[in-house]
Amino acid sequence: MLTREDIIRTAEQVAANVTGGAPVGFRDVVVKENTVQLTVLDANEAVHLKLETDLQAALKELGATTVHCRFRSSEASASAPQGGVGDAKNGQEQSEPVRGHAAGMESNKLLNERSGVHFIAVASGKGGVGKSTVTVNLAVALARRGKRVGIIDADIYGFSVPDMMGIEERPAVVNERVIPIEKYGVKVMSMGFFVEDNAPIVWRGPMLGKMLRNFFAEIEWGEVDYILLDLPPGTGDVALDVHQMIPHSKEIIVTTPHATAAFVAARAGAMAIKTEHEIIGVVENMSYYVTKSGEHEYVFGKGGGARLAESLNAELMAQIPLGAPDNHVSEPDFSPSVYKAETPTGQIYLEIADRVIAKCDKA
Ligand SMILES: Nc1ncnc2c1ncn2[C@@H]1O[C@H](COP(=O)(O)OP(=O)(O)OP(=O)(O)O)[C@@H](O)[C@H]1O
Ligand SMILES: [Mg+2]
Repeated sequence: MLTREDIIRTAEQVAANVTGGAPVGFRDVVVKENTVQLTVLDANEAVHLKLETDLQAALKELGATTVHCRFRSSEASASAPQGGVGDAKNGQEQSEPVRGHAAGMESNKLLNERSGVHFIAVASGKGGVGKSTVTVNLAVALARRGKRVGIIDADIYGFSVPDMMGIEERPAVVNERVIPIEKYGVKVMSMGFFVEDNAPIVWRGPMLGKMLRNFFAEIEWGEVDYILLDLPPGTGDVALDVHQMIPHSKEIIVTTPHATAAFVAARAGAMAIKTEHEIIGVVENMSYYVTKSGEHEYVFGKGGGARLAESLNAELMAQIPLGAPDNHVSEPDFSPSVYKAETPTGQIYLEIADRVIAKCDKA
């Protein structure tokens, strides 16, 4: 039986080893069915990754199956509601210099499970299946339904959201906070805004989490109901970072109807299950081609989405046909990948939005 006392004792030993004795506090230590959640106070950011990895290893040795760590400065957390147990190192928080600033507190607020913001990560096991297209169009559809929506283009290897939405301007900075670009009522933030000429970036592992954290800490999101995250393909480090920062994020898995694609997407599903992200549904993209006579031609095969949904015990939310949006370059609001509301595909996205709203508002 894991007890909070055991957890705190072990966590203190691990922290002492990692920080070389610099004082670190723990609070909100919760253990439920061998899942451990704890907040680490005042750990220097440089040691977060190591501390988290070592804490996970040590607590798993004690019998924990899942370990969620959050990092806070004691000042930011002082104003947060007390969720759990007392501090492990009473008094030490006060003696530590406080890092962070108001922006950090703002980000905590947004990421807090009780903030009311629904996070939905759009994932797939394989590239090119339409994750970004689905993210962008679902976000626009939610906005068309009156929701306040943000997109985080977390695909740092191949950010595409600004291009897809026809965004050419770059965000302004006001009072050291970055203002997202708004289009179709959706607030968009992309790493692509900060990279010149699409230059390829070599990201080291720790940079990923830092970049994502900045997307919460230094961005002026204002009031939002939904934030959609466009993830890079695969089950790599970005997905893990998202999980670490937003354990209550939900997921939508995108696949194509081809059996192999669905098999690969299942890996993303397995990852979501492992990270305990709730999968709210599967979207099958490029499902069929509508011929001139109105028939459906299943050019990429059939049934992949349904099979994947079944294996993940999730709902097949929609099957989206092949076909680029019928937007025209000369239109004032041109954006290459956004389907108009009144088109058949635009309608399908509105239906997905309704299902998403039904699921999230129920929760
Ligand atoms: N239903 C569709 N019909 C026709 N083309 C589509 C459809 N959905 C997406 N596409 C096109 O397929 C390509 C890949 O889509 P998208 O970039 O959304 O996929 P992705 O999964 O985000 O890819 P990546 O893994 O590279 O991030 C794009 O050129 C996009 O315009
Ligand atoms: Mg993409």
